[in-house]
This record gives sequence, C-alpha cells and structure tokens, in this order.
Amino acid sequence: MARFSILSKTSSPAREQATDTPAEKPVSGEDDKQSAPLFSTDEAIAEPEDEQDLSAPSLDLLDAKLRVHNKLIDELDLSMLDKLDETEMRRQVRRLVTEIVREERIPMNQAEVAQFADSVYDEMTGLGPLEPLLADPSISDILINGAAQVYVERGGELELSEARFRDNAHLRRIVGRIVSAVGRRVDESQPLVDARLLDGSRVNAAIEPVAIDGPLVSIRKFSKKPLTLEKLISFKAMPEEVAAFLHNAVKCRVTTLISGGTGSGKTTLLNALSAAISHKERLITIEDAAELQLQQPHVARMETRPPNLEGKGEIRQRELVKNALRMRPDRVILGEVRSEEAFDMLQAMNTGHEGSMATIHANNPREAISRLEQMVAMGGLRISGEAVRGQISSAIGIIIQAQRLSDGSRRITHVTEVTGMEGDIIQMQDIFTFDRLRTDEDGTVVGEFRASGLRPKCLDDMQRRGVHLPLEYFDPSTPLLSVP
Ligand SMILES: Nc1ncnc2c1ncn2[C@@H]1O[C@H](COP(=O)(O)OP(=O)(O)O)[C@@H](O)[C@H]1O
Ligand SMILES: [Mg+2]
Repeated sequence: MARFSILSKTSSPAREQATDTPAEKPVSGEDDKQSAPLFSTDEAIAEPEDEQDLSAPSLDLLDAKLRVHNKLIDELDLSMLDKLDETEMRRQVRRLVTEIVREERIPMNQAEVAQFADSVYDEMTGLGPLEPLLADPSISDILINGAAQVYVERGGELELSEARFRDNAHLRRIVGRIVSAVGRRVDESQPLVDARLLDGSRVNAAIEPVAIDGPLVSIRKFSKKPLTLEKLISFKAMPEEVAAFLHNAVKCRVTTLISGGTGSGKTTLLNALSAAISHKERLITIEDAAELQLQQPHVARMETRPPNLEGKGEIRQRELVKNALRMRPDRVILGEVRSEEAFDMLQAMNTGHEGSMATIHANNPREAISRLEQMVAMGGLRISGEAVRGQISSAIGIIIQAQRLSDGSRRITHVTEVTGMEGDIIQMQDIFTFDRLRTDEDGTVVGEFRASGLRPKCLDDMQRRGVHLPLEYFDPSTPLLSVP
C-alpha cells in the first residue's frame, strides 16, 4: 500500500498524480466514506518498503506536515474542540487540513489528506502515556516532574507510577497539545499555564526556563461525581452537625468564604455546599479554569482568558465579577478570589447578593481576612484600611477552613463567624473547630471536632427563614466526632 503513503511520493507517477489532485479532483472534507485511514502515519514511517523513499522529498513532506499542523493550531478555534462531539471535531479538522493542503500546494490525494487529517487530529487530542492514568478512577492527581518521573495520588497518598515519556520533548509536545486545545499557549515567554482537559481535569504546566529538569505538570483530575456533603461526612471531613449547620447557612443565604491551602478540599466543599442553594435562584460562576459542577438548572458559567501572544485580550476575574453584576444574579460564585477582584466581590456581597460564595488560599480564618484586605489593596483603590475592613465584616458571614492534615486526611478545621467590627478590628468567633490531640507513630492525626459553645449570630436570621437547628449542635461539653 506504499502508494498511499505520504512518504512514498518520490516515485514519479504517484507524485505527479498527487500534485495534480487539487486541480483535477478537488479534495473534499465532506466525504466521510473516504475517512477511514488506511494506516497510520507512524506505520508508514516504519514500513520497510518505504526505506528507499526516505530521501529529501519525504523529509519535505514531513516538514509540510509540521507546517500544516502549526497552521491548523493557529486557524482552528481550538476551544471549540471542547464543545463538539468527536465526529464533528474530526470533520472540522479535515476541512481545515484540506484547505491548508490546497493552499500550500502539498502533493496529496484525497485519501492521503483524510488519513493525514486523522493523524493530525490524534496528535492534537491524544495524551500518550497520560491516557491510562486519566482513565484510572482511583487516581485523583497526576504530578509529572520531567519525562522520567510521574507521581500519582491514590486515596490521599502519593506513589511513583510506571508511566514515562520518551523524553522531555515528548512531554513538552503533550503539554503544548493540552494547552492549545483550550486556546492557550506555553512557550519561553509564557512558561506557566493553566488549562483544562476535555474531561474537565485541571492542568498546570511549567516549562523551561522556569522548570529546570523538564516540564512540570500537575493534573487535578476531574471527579465525575463531585463529593456530596454526605460523602464528606462519611470521610469524617466534618461531623453531621457541622454539615447541617453549613448546609442551612448556605440555604439561608449566609455569605460563605471557604479558606484552605492547595488541595485541601475547598472546591469540593464549595460544590457540596452549593447543593443547598434553591433551584429557583440564578447563579453566576466565575473561574480561572472551570471546575465547579453546580447542580442547579440556572447557572451561567464564565471563565477568565489569559493574554494572547501580543499580550492583548486578557479578561481578568475583576471584569467578570463586574460584568456578573449586570447579569442579574441571585448569587455570584467565585471559584477562587486571588487578586483585585476581591473588592468587586465584596461589593457584590454587600449589595443584594447575599449567599455569594468564594474560596481563598489561606491557612486560617484570620489569615483569610487579612489576605482579602491585601487583595483589595492590589486594586489600587483609595480606600482606607478601616473602610475595607468594614466592607469585609459586613460582606462575609462565615469562613470555613479546610485543611489537608499531615496524614493526608482532609478536615474542616474551623467554622468561624464574622460578627462585625469593634473599633478598627474585625470580630470573629469560632463556632466549630477540629482540635488535634496527638499524632500517632504511623503519622495518623488523632483529634476531635467540637462546638465552641458560642451561639452563631446568623442563627437568628436562619430562624426567621424557618430553619431551626437543635441547640445540642452547639453544645461544647462532648466532642461531636473523634477521628480517626
Ligand atoms: N474530605 C475529603 N476527603 C477525601 N478527599 C477529598 C476531600 N475533599 C476533597 N477531596 C479530594 O481532594 C482533591 C482536592 O480537592 P479540591 O477541592 O480540588 O481542593 P482545592 O480546591 O482546595 O485545591 C480532590 O481530588 C478531591 O476529590
Ligand atoms: Mg480549588
């Protein structure tokens, strides 16, 4: 079948025929019956009878292929790959490849173009050694430190996996593919990038020059079924009483800030708590890389956009929060507040969007508040620290602290209520805490969840809305739950 091989066109008859193809018989992307590839390009390269053909013109063709590939990535709206089903995606890719091949006057006949388009498509979408790891539901995170070292997280523990990439260039290509699929780029001038896989998994990649020993890739896999509050209770992330309080607080539109380190379970908790929101409300979500899976029917999702190669076209969270307020939301859900959008988010929370929610990267509730203050300051607005603290204290109802403990377990370590201002200082009170008692020799953290005994002020409002929680929930005399 060498006559169909892209690499075999040095033999003159085939070459002439192929060169004339565009004029004589226009290649068409429409004809699906021609689509089945006769063999993959890789096989063609390995084909022994092609050996004599691996001369300069063949290399030209390989070169052409690379050019087509690059052009395709430039021209194709890769973000659409997300939205289309596979057949439609292949059709689109084939249409573009056909056009480019014609423009570039690359000698290929229709069958070759079809096969070529399919191989380009597979190149664009395949993730090589990552595929089996992504398919394994027991793996929650994939952490790649250069081509030769791939760690995975299973059940909260890191283990070295067998997966390897051919070399750093191979890994680099896969990273390029992942980010180009969501319309982003990674190169020396932009060596850090966030992206999302088609299945919703989140990817962060760092390449040279910031990554020293080859690309660093961190993948947080999308869990098909988001964890529910019931599941989190069964994992002893929090006792039932705490879950019931949080669920009802969110239901009654107490504005909630979820604080925690990376991987502590903030987004998971946000998702789980969002189940308490009425299906009648209009929600707007704003994220850097969409991962929330709200269950409500009326959700408008927005995602930021990084600048393009010329440094233009960036859309930051701040603009999206501002815009969200013109979209008549009942609540705004901000995946993670990290910068100057903090101010706009506080404004939203203070102007009729009670019950809005956000996560923040901080190690305890007090720190969450001071980080919010710092973020507002990043916006360069001329407001006094006191005014900012006033905004914060009136905007935020409760702060929930999530933590990944040294034994890998994830617990809600604080539920803290913001109760107001006293002078210049924001007043807070812990409602529930997780207290570490000791760490066993095997590393297990032994501890207990307890109520502080303080009655949350927001209970009054919750009662007005018809929610009556038993007072035992807040009884500090016995632990609510001991772990492990
Ligand atoms: N309580 C929990 N018990 C076990 N696994 C959890 C728990 N909470 C979250 N996870 C898992 O931990 C990982 C990180 O959670 P995520 O919510 O994305 O963290 P964050 O948003 O803080 O970075 C996910 O794989 C998630 O499924
Ligand atoms: Mg998160």
